[in-house]
Amino acid sequence: MPKLEASAFAPINIALAKYWGKRDSRLNLPTNGSISMTLDKFGSTTKVEFDPALSSDQFVLNGKDERSPDSLRKITIVLDELRSLARMHPHARIHSENNFPTGAGLASSASGIAALTLAASHALGLKLSPEKLSELARRGSGSACRSLFDGFVEWKRGELADGSDSVAASLHPASHWALHALIVVVDAETKSQSSTGGMTSARKTSPFFQSWVESAQASLGPIRDAIAARDFYALSRAAEENCLRMHACAMAASPPIVYWKPETIALIHEVRKMRAEGVEVFFTIDAGPNVVIVATAAHAAAARAHFEVFLKNGGARLLETSPGKGAYVL
Ligand code: PMV
Repeated sequence: MPKLEASAFAPINIALAKYWGKRDSRLNLPTNGSISMTLDKFGSTTKVEFDPALSSDQFVLNGKDERSPDSLRKITIVLDELRSLARMHPHARIHSENNFPTGAGLASSASGIAALTLAASHALGLKLSPEKLSELARRGSGSACRSLFDGFVEWKRGELADGSDSVAASLHPASHWALHALIVVVDAETKSQSSTGGMTSARKTSPFFQSWVESAQASLGPIRDAIAARDFYALSRAAEENCLRMHACAMAASPPIVYWKPETIALIHEVRKMRAEGVEVFFTIDAGPNVVIVATAAHAAAARAHFEVFLKNGGARLLETSPGKGAYVL
């Protein structure tokens, strides 16, 4: 039997219109669509080797055996789907490395699962369409379906019960708009509430959940249009509103889900103050305390210099990137 192995790189992405809520948790089907920027430089390099001699899938992350049931479950879902498409059932040895600083507090499941999906499908000799790859990556981790694509990416909610129309596609290549993203690492610890746990609890207990879903769907048009027109102020307004509404929905859950730290709130105020003074910056925050500051190319250096001073040990906690390419086979 020939060696069944391949490697792929997949970048991280940051949502400007957030995915928050599952209408089907087995298939990871979202309650609302989302729009993200695929980010350059930072991501996961993953090697997959299928080996009939193995009795289970093995996963080594950043040089250590990864045994977290949550990570293993996500990987197995993707590998099982690919094995049944290939009509072969060998277990796999997976080595994955994240190139962003360890403990940067960045969610790695989007880049990790996107890289795994691409590498494993190649290793098995499957020639899958970008839509099919996106659908399979989504099964492992929702936001992973966006990391396969370049630049500005939309993941459609979809309508079908089997999820085949709930896939991502690129709206514009990275070259469409040279934005900068400054990732501020407020807290490098693992977040207290996973995004899956937070979404499930918010859906069941937050009285704001239905309003969140309606407003999230309604924000897609303005965010899509602001990106198409490179209208920074329209995007700032719509993306901040979307982010704050997602967090408001989570905070209203019972028990409440509060992802923010005092520094998160300080950064929200500082970004808004700078924008009022004419600096082109806005913020967005995923399911954790870290803040991503988006700036236009013309204002990125001023924003960076300002936040390096604002954050006490500035440089070490600021990672700078820009829209970039989607996942690729190595
Ligand atoms: O893909 P997950 O299950 O890690 O969920 C991601 C959820 C958010 O990061 C909060 C929003 C998003 O669209 O990425």
